[in-house]
Amino acid sequence: MTGPRLSRRVQELCPSSTVAVGKAAKTLAASGVDVVDFGLGEPDFPTPDFVARAGIAAIENGRTKYTDTAGAPALREAIAEKYRREQGAACRPENVLVTAGAKQAVFNACQALFDPDDEVAVFSPYWVSFPEMARLAGARPVFVGTRLEDGWRPTAAQLEKHAGPGVKGVILNSPNNPTGAVVPREELERILDWCARRGATLIFDETYDRFLYDGREHVSAAAFWERHAERIVVTGAASKTYAMTGWRLGWALAPRELVSAMSSYQSHSTSNASSISQEAGILAFADLVRSDSSVAGMLAQYAARRSAMLEGMRAVPGIEAAPPEGAFYVFPRVSSLYGRMTLSGSEEMCRRLLAEAHVAAVPGEAFGEDSCIRLSFATPIEKVREGMRRFAEWAGKR
Ligand SMILES: Cc1ncc(COP(=O)(O)O)c(C=O)c1O
Repeated sequence: MTGPRLSRRVQELCPSSTVAVGKAAKTLAASGVDVVDFGLGEPDFPTPDFVARAGIAAIENGRTKYTDTAGAPALREAIAEKYRREQGAACRPENVLVTAGAKQAVFNACQALFDPDDEVAVFSPYWVSFPEMARLAGARPVFVGTRLEDGWRPTAAQLEKHAGPGVKGVILNSPNNPTGAVVPREELERILDWCARRGATLIFDETYDRFLYDGREHVSAAAFWERHAERIVVTGAASKTYAMTGWRLGWALAPRELVSAMSSYQSHSTSNASSISQEAGILAFADLVRSDSSVAGMLAQYAARRSAMLEGMRAVPGIEAAPPEGAFYVFPRVSSLYGRMTLSGSEEMCRRLLAEAHVAAVPGEAFGEDSCIRLSFATPIEKVREGMRRFAEWAGKR
């Protein structure tokens, strides 16, 4: 018997190694081994109670039907208000599309903007799904490297060097997964000016916009709305900010015509984001006092874990890292261990680290940088300390 005849598109997809690592760590843990999991890409905190209750109330009040495809009007207005208040962007609800997570927002933007063979510049290291989303739209990702020595910050100069004259879009994520880099205001302005000169659209993913350290400031592309509104798609989500990954609630802020095109696309795929999640989102946006204090509580814990992870890293021989400015990952360079430990690269390193030290991490190869691995500190501080102790012992033995 032959199997189903899969499309070429799907056969060409790269399997997600973040998912593969998660599975291997879970299997090992299920067999009774005490695994420290630094592979996680989601908050380990519960959804704030007042948000969870809003979801329950939505069900009890029968808010369980389809909403407008582009999102409930009150939520679109609340998101537009967020960008007016925080970034001074003169945007309206018609500039907002509510989606099932930031992932769907980026995906829809790629589908609405790119044609087969279009060139899309993707800053690298990149979040695993960006190149695949460009490819699923038929486009060709071109990678624009950033360097650990520069704190992994993206620059317009690198774009100029790597992107071709016909480039149609640029994908940038700040604060960055996996590196934690935050794009500075002046550089973001240079990148947007560069996009304007080329007629390219910037897809700016700010999924981690509330998680910043050491006094760093997040600058959204929405801050340049007045000059560049026609060139910007900002994507964000409640997922990490309010520990709501399973609720699937995100959005895109974009020019009206693009929102309308993305909404048409969405009407033939997922329709609207969950009505229940949207009701909870409306409350999270409206109740700034409780929202801000729940985010501040989580941020304080992330900051302490980040310090513990960086501290623990100093005891691991031969690795170097740029302290992350945002998000909840550290992305150390570990390639000096490869020769000494006869490892072929980041994938084998993570496999052995899990099997021999019971520490799960994600190979940098998945993010376009095989010399590094990604460690998430979205895990309790005692686990962070224990995991780093095991890592140092494991690397020190060889
Ligand atoms: C950079 C980045 N963008 C988007 C997402 C997806 O977010 P959501 O769960 O809201 O779809 C993630 C999740 O890991 C991410 O790291």
